[in-house]
Amino acid sequence: MTKTVYIKTVGCQMNVLDSEMVIADLKRHGYQVVDTPDTADLLLYNTCSIREQAEEKTYSALGKLRDTKDRHPEKKIGVLGCMAQKDQEVIFRRAPFVDMVVGPGQLHALPQLITNIDSGEGRQMAVSLGRTEGKQAVVARSHETFDPLRDPSMRPTPFQAYLRIQIGCDKFCTYCVVPNTRGPEQGRSPVEILSEARILAEQGCREITLLGQTVNSYRHRGEDGDTDLAALLEQLHEIDGIERLKFVTSYPKDMTERLLTTVRDLPKCSPYLHVPAQSGSDAVLKRMKRGYTVSQYMEMFERIESILPEAAVSSDFIVGFCGETDEDFQKSVDLIERCRFKNSFIFQYSVRGGTKAAERLEDDVPREVKAQRNNELLAVQNRVAKEGNKKLRGTTVQVLVEGPSKKAGKADEDASIVQMTGRTHCDRIVVFDGNRRQAGQLLDVHVDEVTSHTLIGRVRTVELVSIGL
Ligand code: 5AD
Ligand code: SF4
Repeated sequence: MTKTVYIKTVGCQMNVLDSEMVIADLKRHGYQVVDTPDTADLLLYNTCSIREQAEEKTYSALGKLRDTKDRHPEKKIGVLGCMAQKDQEVIFRRAPFVDMVVGPGQLHALPQLITNIDSGEGRQMAVSLGRTEGKQAVVARSHETFDPLRDPSMRPTPFQAYLRIQIGCDKFCTYCVVPNTRGPEQGRSPVEILSEARILAEQGCREITLLGQTVNSYRHRGEDGDTDLAALLEQLHEIDGIERLKFVTSYPKDMTERLLTTVRDLPKCSPYLHVPAQSGSDAVLKRMKRGYTVSQYMEMFERIESILPEAAVSSDFIVGFCGETDEDFQKSVDLIERCRFKNSFIFQYSVRGGTKAAERLEDDVPREVKAQRNNELLAVQNRVAKEGNKKLRGTTVQVLVEGPSKKAGKADEDASIVQMTGRTHCDRIVVFDGNRRQAGQLLDVHVDEVTSHTLIGRVRTVELVSIGL
């Protein structure tokens, strides 16, 4: 009999990709994916540890499974991902009915762990080594992933895919748990990356987003020399069928002129860069151990502007980091005003066990102040984003159509014209009235109106005729 699996994924793009791999693997072991936990034999939660809130949500979702497990002890529950690596036995303590705890570097072990449970070995835990639990190479090996398994059905759209080029992180920003949960930085081999990209192209993928925690620091040392991100992009650019190449997330210090000119010179590379600043205050950046000052960030930003004047740049900010004064915060406001990011993800600082900030710095900004700074920074960001988008009014943008927008909803399932959504080359979201068959196409859309997050347009008449609307 076919077994069924339900998977709930939270967190970053790495997790979305990991879930795709897990499902590809389980399908090869006879599993079928279902949309609800009720009908599943195996319930998987792919988790995130970046902020406390993400963890608490998962623990509360797990808490609700206690009854399910009482009623159906044969169902298996697995906690995967960063929280599994970080909390390990704590998960079994807080949720004793969980059967498996599997870190992000051990996901390939999942089918074996299920077999172990079936043969009566009890609950299972597979996690990678901690940063100090062995020699660097051994620790790194324990974090390896099994990327070549791909499953288009698990992607948000079949013509867009993530491709991991780098595992882990060695930057050790003081607030961040990632160097612990995902282990040492390792560049995957270009041979593996290229063969995976070719598989994706054969599966009909038109846009690939390369993933790494500090993706522009990518480096692979091979027998025939070093490969950096620029060299890798040049090779990926040759693959027929791939139309767009993006990469996230970039580290400000490693945004070299060589990389920027490569992006400029390769038409498939999107003029879109996600380069988190985190703060606009030197004192805060220093406590975060980000490795750059505001003026160095600005130098990098100006380098982007001069080489790629059309590029859209986005950022992340943390508000309320240890010791952040009103003046420090104001400097983050100023940085957004100066850089006019396309968008910024803004987060309230959350203490993470095992980080340097948790050990050495006091989380002294009150919760209400964090919330207030968050709102204020978001308002500034939204204003500059809208002003930036207004410049695109009246222009024509090329859109890779993703599918019906959320607004199109279920009610419109039979309608011939629905609101469709897609993205420009520089990652701006576009909505327009169109047809479901346009999903996966590259269309020229005329921009009529804008908000801070969206361009609202209409397909140029020529295309409307050619697709028979
Ligand atoms: N608290 C709040 N935000 C954090 N981030 C990383 N660690 C923390 C933390 N402890 C944010 C950073 C990072 C993004 C992915 O999450 O802005 O760029
Ligand atoms: Fe975390 Fe800093 Fe590494 Fe990004 S660069 S994953 S914020 S430690």
